[in-house]
Amino acid sequence: MDNFNFYAPTYYSFGKEVEKSVGELIKKFGGTRVLIHYGGGSCVKSGLLDIVKNSLTEQGLFFLELGGVQPNPKSGLVYKGIEICKSNSIDFILAIGGGSVIDSSKAIALGSVYDGDFWDFYRKGIVVQKALPVGTVLTIAAAGSEGSGDSVITHENGNFKWAARGDVLRPKFSVLNPEYTCSLPLYQTACGITDIFVHLTERYFTNSQNVEVTDRLLEGLLKTIISQGKLCVKDPTNYDIRANIMWTGTMAHNNICGVGRLQDWASHGIEHELSALYDCAHGAGLAVIFPAWLEYVGKINPHKVISFADRVFNINQGYNQEIVNKVVFAVKEFLRYIGMPTNFTELGAKKEDIDFLVEHMFKNNIEFSGNYVKLYPQDVKAIFEIASK
Ligand code: NZQ
Ligand code: ZN
Repeated sequence: MDNFNFYAPTYYSFGKEVEKSVGELIKKFGGTRVLIHYGGGSCVKSGLLDIVKNSLTEQGLFFLELGGVQPNPKSGLVYKGIEICKSNSIDFILAIGGGSVIDSSKAIALGSVYDGDFWDFYRKGIVVQKALPVGTVLTIAAAGSEGSGDSVITHENGNFKWAARGDVLRPKFSVLNPEYTCSLPLYQTACGITDIFVHLTERYFTNSQNVEVTDRLLEGLLKTIISQGKLCVKDPTNYDIRANIMWTGTMAHNNICGVGRLQDWASHGIEHELSALYDCAHGAGLAVIFPAWLEYVGKINPHKVISFADRVFNINQGYNQEIVNKVVFAVKEFLRYIGMPTNFTELGAKKEDIDFLVEHMFKNNIEFSGNYVKLYPQDVKAIFEIASK
């Protein structure tokens, strides 16, 4: 097992009606002047925004609102949010929504205490050391941003979808009421399930040795997201299924099961090019890329693919290549079952864009992507080609 430091101090409040305590939580973490940040209106429609605002009012907290975050959040609204925070002495940001709203909030949080351009942290990969505190009210189980130290933003100048990182970006608290996820359209639900599944595989596929504890945590969570994901698409308003998916989503990405091992992340790096170019849902892009990645790396470095096949999908008969083929098939079958696309055509991506996608991906001067198998531009191109079949 590799050495590691793990600092994940987010306070979680999980279950029915927990959203009523948001005002108290903000006070507990020192907030007095709050920016409430949300998306395209789902939290207005569900009544959640009003419940949260009442909770802040009861606690005598000053607040302003900034809605309008789009999926695959853009830099324009981040600049606007930073301006609002700076000119109103905002000292706490409350995100109500999913990964896009939370990531936009984190970007505003880091940009509000920085004199330069917030994008510097995304462009240069400098670890973020200072940010306003962020709290979240999660409405979709997917990105895991409610527990992560990451923020992913698309800059409209050049359409680059890049990440900034730092433990200081981990939310002070996250409020998770699974009931709110029952209003999600099935497609968004499935995108979230896929994202959670791939957050687990990005950590699972490693060459680090003797990582039994995190292997077993990951396998348990993978089996959970597969079984609960399949149940959820048939019974989408079942509270307990939604609850199991929601907490799996947080554990999949707060890194409790990723420590002590070198993680991969190539599927995410490749997918971000698809959601940057086509503005598709991140989970749908992953459903197209991950099976293609698995097929490609399974030929080069099969050892972990074989244990993934055996321990997660109970596939263990045959030669290595047969097992690889079978598990790629099983993964696609699962993704199709929950309603995800598994190739370019189904996603609305175009084969003739492949050269552009590869070139754009390597524009931030990375030499390769991924660690389980290091992928250079020609490898990424081959994966896009598999995905476009
Ligand atoms: O904007 P509203 O109206 O809220 O609608 C959203 C949005 O259209 C809707 N939605 C959310 N909760 C709902 C709901 N609709 C009905 N009922 C509800 N309860 O769902 C749509 C998608 O929301 P979004 O926030 O975009 O989804 P998700 O949580 O999947 O976030 C995706 C973003 O997170 C990034 C992705 O790249 C993408 O930009 N990621 C962030 C990570 C992180 N910060 O750690 C890691 C991930 O790997 C990922 O890259
Ligand atoms: Zn993801």
